Amino acid sequence: MTAFDVDAIADGLDAPYRVEFHERIGSTNDRARELAEDGETGVAVVTGEQTAGRGRRDRSWAGPPGGVYLSLVVDPDLEPGDYPLVTMAAAVATARALQDQGVETSIKWPNDVLATDADGTGKLAGILTERVDDHLVVGIGVNANVDPGELPERATSAQSLVGALDQAALARAILDGIATRLLNSEEILAAWREDAATLGRQVRVETPGGTIEGEAVDVERPGRLVVATGDRTVEVSTGDCEHLRRLP
Ligand code: BTN
Repeated sequence: MTAFDVDAIADGLDAPYRVEFHERIGSTNDRARELAEDGETGVAVVTGEQTAGRGRRDRSWAGPPGGVYLSLVVDPDLEPGDYPLVTMAAAVATARALQDQGVETSIKWPNDVLATDADGTGKLAGILTERVDDHLVVGIGVNANVDPGELPERATSAQSLVGALDQAALARAILDGIATRLLNSEEILAAWREDAATLGRQVRVETPGGTIEGEAVDVERPGRLVVATGDRTVEVSTGDCEHLRRLP
């Protein structure tokens, strides 16, 4: 197996990104924010272990050894209103990089990468995108070769599904995937739809404005989920989405 180090990531990387590797770090997003504040862009902070990882909505994110945790500083060539497309692109890049290593993945709106094992469907990767001045910090955490016992409930580890992954190859494929997709932003949502687990499902979305329940029928630019509630159609920009049981 390729060692997870900076050379193994950078060798063969097509994306125009510099890689800063750490054996272990508090949070790659925190380090990437520092770089962004110093005006750096096109740099990816990568580690296999985080001690103070952060998730969406001020939650913590478990970062046991064996993971792939990375944060990319980018200045996308997009209007700020379209920045959610970058997170959607990162979700597709992550889902497909995992598929390349034999993990069957799907995406739950807006950007959770899921995989299914004998115990059901669990979260394999998550994305936290933050804005720093004119830069975006796209933080991706993948439970690659981690001990499932160190993960929260409803999370799963790729290693327990298909055996150990090549962490460096995974990081490289994610970065290349993001770079490629950002060059073709018109195609990001089509790719997202192809991998979506959410579309066609009954969902409950906790939004800042209340709970929306209904069938997820589509996703619209720049990443809004369209939910048919029965009497109306609602477009949701942000929220926590739960897949409800399939109807018989
Ligand atoms: C989520 O809540 O689903 C998003 C989790 C994002 C975690 C990643 S791990 C790499 C980067 N550094 C962090 O501190 N968070 C993100």
